[in-house]
Amino acid sequence: MTTLLGAPTTTGSRIAAIGGFRGENLVTNDDIAGPINSSDEWIRQRTGIVTRARADHDTTIADMSTAAAQDALAKAGITGADVDAVIVSTVTHFEQTPALATIVADRIGATPAPAFDLSAACAGYCYGIAQADAMVRAGLARTVVVVGVEKMSDFIDPTDRTISFLLGDGAGAAVVTASDQTGIGPTVWGSDGGQAGVIYQTRSWLDYRHEELGEPEEETPELAEEVSQMRTPTLRQLGPTVFKWVISTIPGVARQAVAAAGLTLDDIEVFIPHQANMRITDQLTKLLKLPDSVIVARDIAETGNTSAASIPLATERLLREGTAPSGAVALQVGFGAGLAYAGQVVVLP
Ligand SMILES: CC(C)(COP(=O)(O)OP(=O)(O)OC[C@H]1O[C@@H](n2cnc3c(N)ncnc32)[C@H](O)[C@@H]1OP(=O)(O)O)[C@@H](O)C(=O)NCCC(=O)NCCS
Repeated sequence: MTTLLGAPTTTGSRIAAIGGFRGENLVTNDDIAGPINSSDEWIRQRTGIVTRARADHDTTIADMSTAAAQDALAKAGITGADVDAVIVSTVTHFEQTPALATIVADRIGATPAPAFDLSAACAGYCYGIAQADAMVRAGLARTVVVVGVEKMSDFIDPTDRTISFLLGDGAGAAVVTASDQTGIGPTVWGSDGGQAGVIYQTRSWLDYRHEELGEPEEETPELAEEVSQMRTPTLRQLGPTVFKWVISTIPGVARQAVAAAGLTLDDIEVFIPHQANMRITDQLTKLLKLPDSVIVARDIAETGNTSAASIPLATERLLREGTAPSGAVALQVGFGAGLAYAGQVVVLP
């Protein structure tokens, strides 16, 4: 067999900087409780959310991604010209093509860097870090920008009681660079498409296409009525099922990620779970028996659940506010629709 030589590889990668951008408006529980017949008290008790960041109507996910990526680049002391690849994780880019990452790469001055989107919902950022780490190790890139971005406010039905009240808008970005000192541990990840109906989109965009083309052919009055009332697809969840799945699955994933990094839970200084809801964060912290000395990310109280953006935004806050020091050993784990999950230990930049 012919051996192809010359592919450079490196020993490891690390996160050099984290940047963020939050939706401009902090929306209170009272602001959204009316249409779902809820209350500030109910939402605080069940989710720990006090406000959620929501972006202005004119602020796009490309704008938010660019702001977060530029923040990360500035903190890393490099420019877009130094970037070899851009990965954007999102479920709220409402165009099939081109990938949002190509637009972001261009806006930050990284063209002609390869750029692609990744769809793994609330696990998207950790999937992106796994990809960037693997690309750097394989010699495909030395510097990768990973963005997690969502404008969930474009994807919710304000009258939906299942998930709308959790969700916020924002972008978080990491600069991943080649490093002899490994700062990103092995990723433990997976999915369970058998449970795809647990967090789901109300309709497929293809339904609109079929309707436009007059399909299905045998249209009943009931179907015509349904189609006439069609609204754009929005997100729903089976909340209690999600809760149970997270509690039964994610502690094991977290433990495996720590072991894969050659560490024990005693070595973990910072815990950054996906900011799904505060009760989930509390339960995971308890089940992992993390001592009080471990710093736990709780950005959800102010920012809400921003899906792929939540882990980098929570990290950005910990570093900006000085709650977690640079160089700390952090366990991050994302989980959500798919049901997809990913966790890894990282050294904070
Ligand atoms: C969504 C979630 C907060 C709902 O809380 P819950 O306690 O499980 O709520 P349930 O669906 O069991 O309903 C309990 C009661 O609250 C009511 N309720 C449900 N949603 C409500 C809402 N948004 N506002 C007010 N009341 C609500 C129900 O009607 C029910 O009332 P009843 O006891 O009189 O019948 C909770 O399931 C949860 O946090 N799940 C995890 C989901 C998650 O984090 N997803 C993120 C995706 S990664």
